[in-house]
Amino acid sequence: MSNNQSKIALVTGGSRGLGKDSALQLAKKGFDLIITYQTKKEAADEVVKEIENIGQKAYALPLDISSTAGFDQFVTEVKHILDTQFASGKLDALVNNAGIGINQSFETTTEETLDAMTNIHFKGPYFLTQKLLPLLNDGSSVVNTSSGLARFSFAGYSAYGAMKAAIDSLSRYQALELGSRKIRVNSIAPGAIETDFGGGAVRDSKEYNQLVSSQTALGRVGLPDDIGSVVAFLCSDDSKWINAQRIEVAGGFRI
Ligand SMILES: NC(=O)c1ccc[n+]([C@@H]2O[C@H](COP(=O)([O-])OP(=O)(O)OC[C@H]3O[C@@H](n4cnc5c(N)ncnc54)[C@H](OP(=O)(O)O)[C@@H]3O)[C@@H](O)[C@H]2O)c1
Repeated sequence: MSNNQSKIALVTGGSRGLGKDSALQLAKKGFDLIITYQTKKEAADEVVKEIENIGQKAYALPLDISSTAGFDQFVTEVKHILDTQFASGKLDALVNNAGIGINQSFETTTEETLDAMTNIHFKGPYFLTQKLLPLLNDGSSVVNTSSGLARFSFAGYSAYGAMKAAIDSLSRYQALELGSRKIRVNSIAPGAIETDFGGGAVRDSKEYNQLVSSQTALGRVGLPDDIGSVVAFLCSDDSKWINAQRIEVAGGFRI
């Protein structure tokens, strides 16, 4: 049975991949969840059911992280769920996870592509977090999703990798300015993980999978459940003294 004392986490992009695993691991740690999806409502509803089967409450809301125009409405919907379904009325954790990958050379990257990467991976999380500040409890935890590609370079990821580097920097600034409210902010930097990301290349391309495995100390690519438990740890009091850190979760890729 869920209990009203549970902490509440909001995970963007919780319908699939790393966000789904993070939501499930948070539920296993006793969090109730609000997850978001962009288009795959059915997948999100399945995740809600899985969380309920773990014994926690869960709700799914649509969100387009690339468009700040919808954020006020989204925050109103989050507030409504918090006010009507939860006793505490505030969030204890925010996981900025939603995103897509593209592989395009620097030479051919268009202004539209760069704008899309900026909106999805930087501007969206920036202003969503800002707008959610009144709904975050003092002492809560924010986890931003970076990427190994912010540390090392892989041809075709100049726009994506640069935005993830920006998220690492933003996380430190947020940690500095939100510390007065005891809000911790960290970024998690997954390596290449077998999800639908980037057309599922890490999972579906044997060549790419082997290339990444051969450059990883632990000799394989990542799986979603390599990541969610770390996100859940960063959202919990188990990590209460970890703040303003970039934590790479990549099995030792290109070290
Ligand atoms: N997989 C990797 O190798 C890897 C490595 C490093 C970092 N990351 C980062 O990890 C995060 C999650 O990636 P993933 O591998 O889990 O990807 P995924 O399996 O493709 O899942 C993407 C999730 O984001 C949502 N989403 C996509 N575009 C959105 C938008 N414009 N607005 C709101 N939600 C949107 C999707 O919703 P729908 O289901 O409704 O489409 C889905 O829930 C991303 O930030 C990615 O950059 C991934």
